[in-house]
Amino acid sequence: MIQIAVLGYGTVGSGVVEVIETNHKSINKNAGEDINIKYVLDLRDFPGDPVQKILVHDYEEIVNDPEVKIVVEVMGGIEPAYTFVKRALNAGKSVVTSNKALVAKHGIELLQIAKDKNINFLFEASCGGGIPIIRALNSSLTADEIDEITGILNGTTNYMMYRMDVEGCQFEDALKEAKEKGYAEADPTDDIEGYDACRKIAILSSLAFGQFVNYEEVYTEGITKITAEDMKYAKAMGRTIKLLASSKKVGDDFYVMTAPFLLGPNSPLFSVNDVFNGIFVHGNVLGDAMFYGSGAGKLPTASAVVADVVDEAKHLNRNIMMNWSSKKLEIMDVNDAEGRFFVRMKGNLADDLAKAEELFGKVEPLEVPGLEGEFGFVTSTMKEGEYHKKAEQTDKILGMIRIKE
Ligand code: HSE
Repeated sequence: MIQIAVLGYGTVGSGVVEVIETNHKSINKNAGEDINIKYVLDLRDFPGDPVQKILVHDYEEIVNDPEVKIVVEVMGGIEPAYTFVKRALNAGKSVVTSNKALVAKHGIELLQIAKDKNINFLFEASCGGGIPIIRALNSSLTADEIDEITGILNGTTNYMMYRMDVEGCQFEDALKEAKEKGYAEADPTDDIEGYDACRKIAILSSLAFGQFVNYEEVYTEGITKITAEDMKYAKAMGRTIKLLASSKKVGDDFYVMTAPFLLGPNSPLFSVNDVFNGIFVHGNVLGDAMFYGSGAGKLPTASAVVADVVDEAKHLNRNIMMNWSSKKLEIMDVNDAEGRFFVRMKGNLADDLAKAEELFGKVEPLEVPGLEGEFGFVTSTMKEGEYHKKAEQTDKILGMIRIKE
């Protein structure tokens, strides 16, 4: 029997307990041993919940118990999660986490401790919830040189963009709906400002490219400036707007970015709607691959966490190698990335198109019935820095959204 401890009895923690209870027969069969939850750590009490029998309030009980072989960290946040995880690994216990903030910030150090101790630090649930993307990058796609990962990695914002597309509502109404549905956090800043997706693409890129991508260096723009009017233009172009987190190898350079993009029906991410996540991967021999599924929520996330527990149970004294070195990946300046840009400008096509073309060269103009005093256009391909230089020369620009080709 393998004894495990779960740190945190919140949404994901209670999901982990539920999954292990519900599927214990198949989980034990898959692990080759019985998995038993010996402790659940939480500061709170849960009277009436059977978890109360195994609930502890003091981490020392867990870290000092030699019977505990696997620690599951589902508390979230950096502290005390970081201290608890590091102590568990140093005590020779393998760790599973769903904590993207922890992995993005301290992943290299924690992976190194696990390697030195010949144990494991696994984090499938940190990116894409229940979608098996980390394991895919770490084993199924190792014959490839990955040159692109582009994902819808945040369920909350994808739900909001979908509602804005379907209902034509404004950002605030979509956020209210996401909160009512329980998708958005009480403080949804990390979701709507793109920080959550940014951490996830930094983790995925570090694994795909084998070098550490520092999330603090990733250009990140959220969806807070996206309006119902932007969505009307998107529809007029047969496109929609989604928050994409993307990393790409361009020649010998890499660019990594999180921002809203206009994408068309030819994109495999176009139909990733509602709270779902989707991750597009391109490999030099594989070509295209798409991973799609439930990217957030109690049971999908717990499913990925428990799958990592099973993997660790099967590799108790053997480190599963992760292709993530401490060598930092130099990221290209976003101003050097090339693309086309959709721009909204004050004025009207008849009088002001010439001004737009004087600045940006030949553009594809667009007017949407009902939107008075403005028009839109799509530029030709140019570097982002070049776009900004041109845009600075006029005070008539109302907004810009990048086009995903
Ligand atoms: N807030 C995150 C999301 C939770 O909406 O995707 C899953 O990481």
